[in-house]
Amino acid sequence: MVATLIDGKAIAKATRGRIKEEVTQMKAAGITPGLAVILVGENPASITYVRSKERACEQAGIYSRVIRHPATITEAELLQEIQQLNEDPSIHGILVQLPLPPHISEDLVIEAIRVEKDVDGFHPINTGNLVVGKPGFVPCTPAGIMVMLEEMKIPIAGKHAVIVGRSNIVGKPMASLLLNQNATVTICHSKTVELGEITRQADILVAAVGKPNFISKAEVKPGAVVIDVGINRLPEGLVGDVNFEEVKEVASYITPVPGGVGPMTITMLLENTIQACKQLQG
Ligand code: GUN
Repeated sequence: MVATLIDGKAIAKATRGRIKEEVTQMKAAGITPGLAVILVGENPASITYVRSKERACEQAGIYSRVIRHPATITEAELLQEIQQLNEDPSIHGILVQLPLPPHISEDLVIEAIRVEKDVDGFHPINTGNLVVGKPGFVPCTPAGIMVMLEEMKIPIAGKHAVIVGRSNIVGKPMASLLLNQNATVTICHSKTVELGEITRQADILVAAVGKPNFISKAEVKPGAVVIDVGINRLPEGLVGDVNFEEVKEVASYITPVPGGVGPMTITMLLENTIQACKQLQG
């Protein structure tokens, strides 16, 4: 079997087209959605991500304000800035790019963001809403994966979904989203014993471990849907957590890297920002 490619780039393009139309209509009604992005320090990956977010906002017609700070900013100064953005009527979404320098508590920063402006979906109240199946902001990467599965008409109810990785940004919210759609969900992580035994049971396998080519053909059940969240920068280029060349021979569907999950993440950030704007404007 050779897997069908899930073209995240194409799905993202179509979704961004719809978002752009919606922003045009909002602007015609006198409302411009606004996103504030805070970048602390000089982490090269963070600089690249923030630039991509800024460009995506510009292309969609969303107002973006990127606020850059040196790594020496104090926690109190950062919290004060978030407070100002919470009260700023031209800003509907606030995102603090992670990771933060070690002297700043990521938990405190995330919890300082007004829940209604938490377009990353990282605030514990949004996390809780997701777990209990109530409306709220959903983290962008898992939200984008759900859109891809829906676009490809991949059934979820009753399927065994195995997620490799338990981060608050991807693994845990992914598990909640799939569970809310009636999948049977298993989360694996670095302490899982006999990982392959479990991944081989997956109808839907989500790899979010941050290790290049970590999932090989032997760990995948023939016919499985394989979603690769990995973005690993190697000298030869960008590679995912899945050994694409091998696994595409056994999977039914697979996301490539680049051009799979990545383009959907920023798309969902744009979507969350216009939703935040609509809700804040009543
Ligand atoms: N760092 C890596 N991914 C993300 C993300 O989705 N949001 C934020 N704020 N920081 C990140």
